[in-house]
Order: sequence, then C-alpha cells, then structure tokens
Amino acid sequence: MTSPSADPAERAAELRAQIAFHNERYHTLDDPEISDADYDELVRELRALEAEHPDLIVPDSPTQLVGGAIGATFAPVEHRVPMTSLDNAMDAAELRAWADRVAKGLDGEPATFVCELKFDGLAMSLRYEDGVFVQAATRGDGRIGEDVTANVATIRDVPHRLAVPASTGEVPPVVEVRGEVYMPTSSFERLNERAVAAGERPFVNPRNSAAGSLRQKDPAVTASRELSFWAYQLGEVVGGPEFSSHAATLDWVGELGFPVNDHVRTFDSIDDVAEHCLHWQEHRHDLDYEIDGVVTKVDDPAQRELLGFTSRAPRWAIAYKFPPEERTTTLLDIQVSVGRTGRATPFAVLEPVFVGGSTVGMATLHNEEQVAVKDVRPGDTVIVRKAGDVIPEVVGPVLSARPRTSTPWVFPADCPACGNPLVKPEGEADTRCVAPDCPAQRNQKIAYFASRGAMDIEGLGEQMVEKLTSAGLIKDAADLYSLTVEQLVELDRVGQTSAQNLVDAIGASTRRPLPKFLTALGVRHFGPAATAALANEFHTVDAIMEKSTEELAAVEGVGDVIANTIAQWFAQDVNRALIERFRAAGVDFGDPEAAAVAAEARAQTPQTLEGTTVVVTGTLPGYTREAAEEAITSRGGKSPGSVSKKTTALVVGDSPGASKLTKAETLGVPILGADEFEHLLSTGELPDAT
Ligand code: IVH
Repeated sequence: MTSPSADPAERAAELRAQIAFHNERYHTLDDPEISDADYDELVRELRALEAEHPDLIVPDSPTQLVGGAIGATFAPVEHRVPMTSLDNAMDAAELRAWADRVAKGLDGEPATFVCELKFDGLAMSLRYEDGVFVQAATRGDGRIGEDVTANVATIRDVPHRLAVPASTGEVPPVVEVRGEVYMPTSSFERLNERAVAAGERPFVNPRNSAAGSLRQKDPAVTASRELSFWAYQLGEVVGGPEFSSHAATLDWVGELGFPVNDHVRTFDSIDDVAEHCLHWQEHRHDLDYEIDGVVTKVDDPAQRELLGFTSRAPRWAIAYKFPPEERTTTLLDIQVSVGRTGRATPFAVLEPVFVGGSTVGMATLHNEEQVAVKDVRPGDTVIVRKAGDVIPEVVGPVLSARPRTSTPWVFPADCPACGNPLVKPEGEADTRCVAPDCPAQRNQKIAYFASRGAMDIEGLGEQMVEKLTSAGLIKDAADLYSLTVEQLVELDRVGQTSAQNLVDAIGASTRRPLPKFLTALGVRHFGPAATAALANEFHTVDAIMEKSTEELAAVEGVGDVIANTIAQWFAQDVNRALIERFRAAGVDFGDPEAAAVAAEARAQTPQTLEGTTVVVTGTLPGYTREAAEEAITSRGGKSPGSVSKKTTALVVGDSPGASKLTKAETLGVPILGADEFEHLLSTGELPDAT
C-alpha cells in the first residue's frame, strides 16, 4: 500500500480518485469495498482540504456532486426534480452549527424542525401519472437514476394506484413520492438463514441485500425478498395542493396510500432535536429495520425556499449520523486460542479500527464452521461490526478487494499451544485440545482462578500468568500461594513494588468468601448461583466434598447435571490433592462452626417438611422473609422464589405478590395464612380442603 501524499494538490487528487472508485462500487455495482463510515471519512478529508485550499476545488469533485454513476443493466431515468443528498452532522455540536446557519439564513426568524429516522436502505423515486404507478427510479447521481420499475412493483408497500386523499378530494395528474426501500431486519435474518442452509454466502447487511434484491433481472426474485418502503418526501408534483408544513405533506402522502414512519416528531428547539437524536442513537436496535441516523428538516416550505440548496444538498435539512457500527479493515491473521476447557476458538487479528465506540483489534470467529461459512481469509478486507454492547464480529469479506493469491483458511490440525492433535467430536461444532498437560489450558485455568468473579487477585491477568508459568514458577493455581517477592522481581519488567503488590493480593485472596473459591476451581457448569447455594447450605468445602450427587442435587438452585459434575470432580484424587494444597496455603474453606450449628439445628428440628416445596409471599407476623424460608428449609423443605406445578403450598402474609397468588390459584396450589403456616411447620400437614 502506498502512503497518502503530503502535498495538498496530490492528496486531493488521490482522494477524488478513491471517492469516485467507491461511488462506483456503491451506487453502480452494489458491492461496496469500504463501510459508509470509511467513505464519509474520505469525503470529510477532501472537504477539509478544499476548505483550506479553495483553488483545489474542481467542478467534478465528489464534494460538488451527489455521487454515484449509472449502471449498465437498467435504463436511465432523468429526475425532473433532482434527488439530492444530505449534509451530515457527526455530533450534537455539528447539529447546533447547522441550526445556527439556518437561523442566519432566516434572519433570526424561528424555525420548527421535523425529525425523521434516517432509514438505511436505498433512496427511490416513485412516479404516478393520473394516480397510476408508472415508474420507479433509483437516485443514481442525483440527476439521472436507473429504471427499476418492474422490481419495485413487487414491493407490497408500494401502491399500484393512489388512493384519493380525503383532505383534498383528488389525485393530482403527476405525483412523485420519494422514500427509502429497505429490508426489515427480521426478513434479512430469514433470507440469510435460507442462504446458509442452501450453502450460499450470506449477505453482509440489510442494506446490501435490499440493493442486491432491486438489481435482479427477474422481478420474481425481488418479489421473494420481502422489501418494504417508507415515504418521506415529494419529488415532482403537477397540480397538487399547497402545503403549509412538511408534517402536513407527510399526512397527505399517507392518505395517498404510502407507509409513513410513526416516529416523526416536531420540535421548536435544536436542544430537543439533539435529545431526540441521542434517544434514537441508544434505541436504534429496538426497531425491525436499520437506521443510521436522524434526519432533521425545516418544517415550513416558505422557509425551505429561502434557505435553498448548496450544490449537493438542501440547506434546510441535515442528517445526524450515529457513530458507525460497521467499518472495513484488514484481516491480518486468523489465530486459534485454547480456553480452560480445551476449546479451540479461531479469532481474527485485525488492523485496529474504531467501531461501535471502541478500537477493535481482535474479534472472535466462534468456530471452524463459522470461518468456512463466512469464508474470511488472512489478507482480506473485512467488514467489522460492533453494535452497542455486543462483542465485535467479523461480518464477512469484501470479495472485490480479495488478493488474487488468497486461499481458504484451514483450521490447524494441532493445538497451537502444546502441539497435540486437536479433536472435533462427530456432530459437535467445537474443536478441542484434550491433552491434559496443555499449557494454554493450564494458563487459562489459572487466569480464571484469579479473575474478578473468582479469587479476584489484582495484577494477575493472562499476561502475568504466562510469565509465571513460562518461568517455571507455577504449574497450577495452588502454586501461587508459595510465590515470593524475590522470585517475582527476577521476571521481565516486574519491579519491587508490583512484586510486593502481587504477593499481597495473592495473600488477600485466601480470605475470599467460600462461593468465590468454589467458583475459582473452574468446575464445568459450577457458576455463581450454584456455588452460592452450596456454600449457603453446607458452609465448608469439607462438607460439600463429602456429599453424594443426590444430596447436592437436593439443594435449591443445584440441578442434577451440576450435582453430578461436582461430585465427580471432588471424587478424583488429583482434585482432592489440589484442595489439600489450597488448605495448606491457608485458603478459607468456610465456617466449620456455622456448619456444625446448621447440622445440629437440622438434627434437633423435626424434618416435618421433607420432600415439600413451600413458597412464601408477603410478610408473616414474627418472621423476616429469610427467617420464614429458613423455617421451611431447616425442616427439610424447599422454599423457592416462585410458584410452579410442584409447589406444595403458597404461604401468604401481608402485601403479597399478586403474580404468585394468581399463579397459585390458577394451578390449584393450596394457599395458607399465618396460622396455617405454623401448623404446617410443626406437623407437615396441610389444612383440610374446604
Ligand atoms: S430526505 C432533499 N429523509 O439519506 C432531502 N432522506 O444521506 C432528501 N434517507 O439519499 C432526503 N432516511 O436515501 C431523507 N427520512 C429521510 C431519510 C433519508 C434515509 C437517505 C436517503 C438520502 C440519504 C442522504
């Protein structure tokens, strides 16, 4: 790759060439090589250069044009009213700057703003003559688009004949309605499920699949693609009514029979507009269609007239763009990591890219099949997506940018950490390293032991674990407790203070509560809920170790599968030996006194509720919620938080929960009051049904 030129004239020429190339890919070939955000960045750079050096502006600079050339397959259509683009605001400050320009253009006269969602699809102009649909044209370069009438005619949202609006009583001889053709997210997901099932490459996003669907030679294919349409603007209208506002125009367009989006809002202040934009930035995924911003338009047609157009966009509208959730970048390599359970996961090493609010340099590729379905290869330009809090994902390759020498990526046969053969059990998606002494598994187990949800040892992340194991200082988590400051300072880039801090942090971890220690052991399925339930019931590691599968499974919140894995884990000599080493290191194994008291209390208390499940709702006289539950469990019963078919009785105190009561009534579960509860505790008997 050549580096960008430092000479402004050369750089402007470079940018113009790149933008023209990407316009062609996007508008004509429907096969963009870079994300919208990357494209916008090129245009912004060119615009900034031109602002600084106005002599560099040439009439056919992409900053002066809407963008997009005409494809070969569809007949050209000249737009009688040009289809312009929109200027963008990337943040609230740019939005306010636009409002200032509007105010200036209107000599300080206040404006009302109409906000619409910015649908991420394809702009379309639909022409009706004497109320009959005659032509659909894409935007193209804004002046000349493409005739896609036959395909658009298959979209259900597009009326073939206009309805007569009640407000005006007639349909004008010529009406052009403009809006966005899009593919609902749910339809996109269905389409991709079908594509994958048929062994075809999935589409990268709903916009691309909508574009691809409109480019079909056979309208029957378009018809099968579940496209939709939102109307948001008028083009040429001959003999139509005069409108007093954009909002009124949209109402009329709705009366003609077009879908107009529900989320159109009118505001008098730009602060409210900014707040509305931020609201949709947060809620963009609540919708069944993709939006990439909010379009704000001046409501009054007379004010629009006053403001007019620049060479490419109206001054009376602005698109507030959300931060990009998709970017294009280079896939530098595909590597495989091995987790603590031996699972081998392929992941993408990326040229770092800022997307979805953070810089992404790595993304999981899940498993072998996912890599094959996406067919991503080292060296590819790939689309990276990070939506909201969702973890970053490689959507797919940009095929047109693929190096000619590239070959499909092959899952390694051997574990990258220990060199032993990887195995992929028949019918399973995951590939695993099953070598018991695999260093990657060992390191991951130790890092998990030290992690926040477990022993929470500050300063002991994956990198430190790697240093410690490769220096031969530790082989498992129990070895951590004999590390010394003298040993640690010998390690690369570990000073006296951080060594001391680490030793202190390891020492402090011996006092973690029992559930944390149980979690840290990393037994499969043994998550926070089950560890808390067992610690609560049995109080010490020793008590838990001695329990049978049945005794473990009897504890509320511990299922049969977990109980079985735990019992098996504690039955193995290696694990028992590990436990003894933790004991020797001084790790807190729970409170034997509490265990003894609980055991004693159990022995003293008649097990009247053995085998029953009693749910409590509301406040019972003389009991806190915990005490009421304890009264049940200490008598051998269970006391879960919700009513089910298995519930023996529901005990109702003051201010009970309505849903528990209704559910108990529906299921025919006996409902007891405070006195009947006392009777149940002492005898285990339910009152006679009345
Ligand atoms: S109005 C003269 N309204 O955004 C005003 N455009 O970046 C023309 N778009 O080409 C456009 N939602 O494809 C308008 N509610 C909306 C829109 C919208 C999406 C698209 C449209 C346009 C592009 C400009």
